[in-house]
Amino acid sequence: MVGKGVATQYNGFATNYTNRQVEFYKSHPDITRSILYDTVTTNLKKKRVLDLGCGFGLDMKWLSEKGAHPYGVDSSEKMIAEAKEDPFGIMVVKDLSDTNFPKDFFDHAISRYAIDYVRDLDSVFKEVYRVLKSNGTFTYVVNHPELLKLAAQQDPELARSEKLVNLPAFNGDLSFTKQLHNIEDYLSKFVLDHFEVLDIVEGQEHPDKFPVPGKTEHTLDFLVVKLRKLYVADIIIS
Ligand SMILES: C[S@@+](CC[C@H](N)C(=O)[O-])C[C@H]1O[C@@H](n2cnc3c(N)ncnc32)[C@H](O)[C@@H]1O
Repeated sequence: MVGKGVATQYNGFATNYTNRQVEFYKSHPDITRSILYDTVTTNLKKKRVLDLGCGFGLDMKWLSEKGAHPYGVDSSEKMIAEAKEDPFGIMVVKDLSDTNFPKDFFDHAISRYAIDYVRDLDSVFKEVYRVLKSNGTFTYVVNHPELLKLAAQQDPELARSEKLVNLPAFNGDLSFTKQLHNIEDYLSKFVLDHFEVLDIVEGQEHPDKFPVPGKTEHTLDFLVVKLRKLYVADIIIS
């Protein structure tokens, strides 16, 4: 799905999504956020950090508490409006594949449950590569391909014709329309040629987070990848 379609989706339920997420994590562990925060480098003081698909800005708040300068990008004006109610840093309405920030600008980038809405993942990886400084890291959380493939069994025609899947979330109160991807899309040739893979974590959310029919105790809900932008010299040598 392209950014505009996602913006329509999130503009439609921005406040509901924000409230639902805040309520849900009052009584359930926020597992991917804990992993994301543990995986991101600890010294963020005065570092410029980009949050791709920042939503209502919860991770920008954490970044700011860590002493970083957070920047958020999101294609949904309504989500950015939610974030601006309690602002932590600079926020812009832009697509993830065309952020308009200068090249070599950010020390780090993060993204939680956002890049998996994008059909052409390499367009995002290329943009992140452009705006990151050499050695900067990009840590992203996405829904695991095996969860989305299971959810796709509910509407095989949508999956076949559009490579899209409706993912139930938050006890089934909301549903997100995401792109179907394979692991090789998340670790594409572009990624492996331009980044070093520093970490990969797979795991499960609380069962109520993504109640997909047919899930078992072994179904993986999420994938977390931490990349480091290679020096230009590293790329020439390899
Ligand atoms: C599930 S929400 C996650 C928000 C936030 N990262 C969090 O974890 O709370 C996904 C966000 O990504 C944004 N998004 C998805 N695709 C996008 C794109 N192509 N360009 C910009 N924003 C996008 C959506 O508008 C939405 O706010």
